[in-house]
Amino acid sequence: MKTIADLGDVKGKRVLVRSDLNVPLDGERNITDDGRIRASVPTITALAEAGARVVVCAHLGRPKGAREDKYSLKPVVGRMSELLGRPVAFASDTVGESAHSVVGALGDGEVALLENIRFNPGETSKDEAERRAFAQELAALADAYVSDGFGVVHRKQASVYDIAQLLPSAMGGLVAAEVEVLKRLTVDPERPYAVVLGGAKVADKLAVIANLMKTADRLVIGGGMAFTFLAAEGYEVGKSLLDADNIGTCKDYLTEAKAKGVQIVLPVDVVCGAEFSADTRIETVEASAIPADMMGLDIGPKSAQLYADAIRDARTVFWNGPMGAFEMAPYAAGTKAVAAALVEATEAGGLTVVGGGDSAAAVRQLGFADTQFGHISTGGGASLEYLEGKDLPGISILGA
Ligand code: 3PG
Ligand code: MG
Repeated sequence: MKTIADLGDVKGKRVLVRSDLNVPLDGERNITDDGRIRASVPTITALAEAGARVVVCAHLGRPKGAREDKYSLKPVVGRMSELLGRPVAFASDTVGESAHSVVGALGDGEVALLENIRFNPGETSKDEAERRAFAQELAALADAYVSDGFGVVHRKQASVYDIAQLLPSAMGGLVAAEVEVLKRLTVDPERPYAVVLGGAKVADKLAVIANLMKTADRLVIGGGMAFTFLAAEGYEVGKSLLDADNIGTCKDYLTEAKAKGVQIVLPVDVVCGAEFSADTRIETVEASAIPADMMGLDIGPKSAQLYADAIRDARTVFWNGPMGAFEMAPYAAGTKAVAAALVEATEAGGLTVVGGGDSAAAVRQLGFADTQFGHISTGGGASLEYLEGKDLPGISILGA
């Protein structure tokens, strides 16, 4: 795997860095969690200090190949500059006039950020030729390329994949560090190995569950996806989130887990709301007694206890996805209990990994510090696909 050192002397060279600056913004476009910007700082700093002219490109949200102001990266510039401790010049386009003039004006050790790379249809195109043509336009702005956007390495996109075939390329420090940790989860993990999965969509996580059945000792399942498993156990789930098409698959997993001796931990009690709201009738019920007119919005206190027990003595823990609608105080306790159990596992010397921008933002919002966990990954989708055993285009193209 090529690292920045393999690029040789970068002084005076234009180095294009693909970062993941896809941070959550509030209604006034203030950054609500700057974790991904922070994580991008070391690689940019190292290049700037080596005298490179650093051109950062990144995406924000999922614009459809055209400019949409609400997805502009402009709100990121100020925070990025603060964290870098150096000015950041901003190009109002990706490969157009503004980009060329901003990059042309860079001195050694200076940093520029291009506008949202997904404002160009070539970035995410499924058409290889269209993607390649855009990658060529990007390549014209630089002499070398550094892949540091771990959150997008599972995407076969122009600034992640195609560009690495056009310029001398290397893996940035963030991607290298993330891959290092993921290896410890997949190659001979210390046992017991517990994986905690939450979030809304069971369909997105089925493939990773299938693969984890081979490596994990305990699968702890919460969040919206838990209700499809409860339905597979034969329970009525009321108005809770349910993926009816996947009940059969969940049933098969429960059977397979039993046969393999993998422990699957499901909620035994549930905090229900009459509506998806904090200002509604709220009841905690047994998992087998969810009222027909209510929806499960968090795991209950007995489940939280059970989940914490499955986590705190584990030697390796990977966690992706909240246990409930934690943004609303009445449904935050389950996610908080899981985070606290990971902290205990960390303190006991285990390796704990919080996977994903959203899960990372959740633990920070609940008042936990990054240092209380072994590793906070900047890529949820990317780390899940790695655990699923899939090829990650942004990594394999670099020969790693
Ligand atoms: C993320 O937020 O998960 C990454 O930035 C990747 O974004 P994407 O799922 O839109 O490709
Ligand atoms: Mg995401």
